[in-house]
Amino acid sequence: MQLAQTRDELTDARFGLDDALDGDVATVLTMGALHAGHLALVHEARRRVGPGGSVIVTIFVNPLQFGAGEDLTRYPRTLRSDLQAAQDAGVDLVFAPSVQEMYPTELRVTVDPGELGAVLEGAARPGHFRGVLTVVAKLLNLTVPALTVFGEKDYQQLVLVRRMCADLELGVDVVGLPTVREPDGLALSSRNVYLGDQERAQALALSRALRAGQDAAHGGGQAALRAAGEVLAAEPGVEVDYLVLTDPQLQPPPEIGHARLLVAARVGRTRLLDNMPVHLGETRP
Ligand code: PAJ
Repeated sequence: MQLAQTRDELTDARFGLDDALDGDVATVLTMGALHAGHLALVHEARRRVGPGGSVIVTIFVNPLQFGAGEDLTRYPRTLRSDLQAAQDAGVDLVFAPSVQEMYPTELRVTVDPGELGAVLEGAARPGHFRGVLTVVAKLLNLTVPALTVFGEKDYQQLVLVRRMCADLELGVDVVGLPTVREPDGLALSSRNVYLGDQERAQALALSRALRAGQDAAHGGGQAALRAAGEVLAAEPGVEVDYLVLTDPQLQPPPEIGHARLLVAARVGRTRLLDNMPVHLGETRP
């Protein structure tokens, strides 16, 4: 596995005459502190490009997507163990640039996420998706993959990245992968390390609520929302920011058919996200 920390090193490793990457290339974008959710994206990337293809992982804690007072400075940074995990997962190239390398000059042009960037996470974190889409565009343009794999864990991000790649003709296929969970249901997240024991137990209410919503969804959208809401209300340590039902594109939900239940909540000082697919007006298989 190669490590590139500058654009020049990346260009050499990606396109160099001696050691260009082979076959189809897939890029998995991360902020590091790699866990089994990230590694599931890597394995899916490998499955898609095949043994003759190449997988790039980027590791960059992107200041542009953090708001004032958010956790930019305390966000976990574990490059050494991340490199080991990437190597063990069969990654061909890691790009782990510094902030200076990614933003050498003041940015004047950024990606506008539009209306979809101003709701849900975008309402709670103004400017967040502008920062996300801008760095995603830069990292895709630097690594030049045929495809990229994103987690459904950050569902709004996945929808927005898909739209950006389509609307701006970036020529990159965006693959979405279901959320990887702990055995007890907690969605894996780099931010779970912030949770104390009691908070971690309280955080289970998010996935429990979504499951309850799934189970009630045969009775329709209101029934699903009510069931999920009751589970969250019964857990005093969880302060709900939003619990919403949408269609798969984050537009208003249908009466019957595929929909998405999304929740954001604060447990102690930690903001957690989760979401699950629901089938409205149908019994689950
Ligand atoms: P990060 O939070 O590190 O997540 C990187 C990728 O891993 C995202 O596609 C995210 O959805 C996925 N992921 C995280 N937890 C997951 C889980 N439990 N199961 C499956 N996939 C999971 O998302 C970002 O970084 C940044 O916003 C980034 C896209 C890198 C831009 O800075």
